[in-house]
Amino acid sequence: MNDSELVEETIVFVKKTLRGAEGGHDWFHIQRVFNNTLLLAKDEKVNVLVVSLAALLHDIADPKFYDGDESIGPQLAKDFLSSLNVDNKTISHVVEIIKNMSFKNSLDKKRKPFYTKELQVVQDADRLDAIGAIGIARAFNYGGFKNRELYNPAIAPNLNMTKEEYKKSSAPTINHFYEKLLLLKDKMNTNTGKKIAEKRHQFMLDYLEQFYQEWNGQL
Ligand code: ADP
Ligand code: NI
Repeated sequence: MNDSELVEETIVFVKKTLRGAEGGHDWFHIQRVFNNTLLLAKDEKVNVLVVSLAALLHDIADPKFYDGDESIGPQLAKDFLSSLNVDNKTISHVVEIIKNMSFKNSLDKKRKPFYTKELQVVQDADRLDAIGAIGIARAFNYGGFKNRELYNPAIAPNLNMTKEEYKKSSAPTINHFYEKLLLLKDKMNTNTGKKIAEKRHQFMLDYLEQFYQEWNGQL
C-alpha cells in the first residue's frame, strides 16, 4: 500500500470509529486538525506520513470519554497500523505522538519530554482547533455534554492545576478559557502556528469582553 492509500484507509477507519462522538471531538475535528497539520507541515521539515497518521489517529479514543484510560487510543492506533503492515518505526513514532501531545500531559511535570518536530506540528494543529471561534464552540459543546455551568462569578479559575486536578475539574466552561485556551498561544511550537494562534487568541479575548458586558446587563 502506498502512502496515500494508507492515509485513505486511515480516514475510513477514523470516520467509522468516531461515529456518534461528542461534537467537539468528532470526525470534523480530526479533519480540521489534519488540514492544519498539512498546512503547518509545508513550512517544517517533517515526515508527512507520520504527521498525517498521527493527526488522523490522535483522538480515536480520547481518555475523557473512556473513564480516563489513556492506553486505549495508542493501542487502537497501533493495532490498526499493524493490521495494514505499516513499518514499525512509523508505528512507534505515531503512537508516541498520540501518547504525548495532549495538554493535560504537558501539565505532568514527571513526564519525560518527547518532542520531535512531527509531534510539534500535530500538537500545534490540534491546539489551533482549540482556540478561536471553533475553540469557543468546542468548549461550550463539551461543557454542555458534561452539563457544566456556562459561567459562575463565584468560582475562580485555577491557574496552577496539576494533571489530576485538571482531569477532575467540573468548573464552569468560562474557566476553561483561563485554565487552557488562553494559554495555548504561548505554547505554540511552529512559527506558522504562532501567527494563526495570535489572531484566534484575540478573537477569544474580544468574545470574553462581550460575554461579561452582556452578563452584567450592559447594552
Ligand atoms: P487534550 O485532549 O489536549 O489533553 P483537553 O482534554 O484539555 O485536551 O481538551 C480538548 C478539548 O476539549 C478542549 O480544547 C475543549 O474544547 C474541550 N474541553 C476539555 N475540557 C474542557 C472543559 N473543562 N471545559 C470546556 N471544554 C473542555
Ligand atoms: Ni484533538
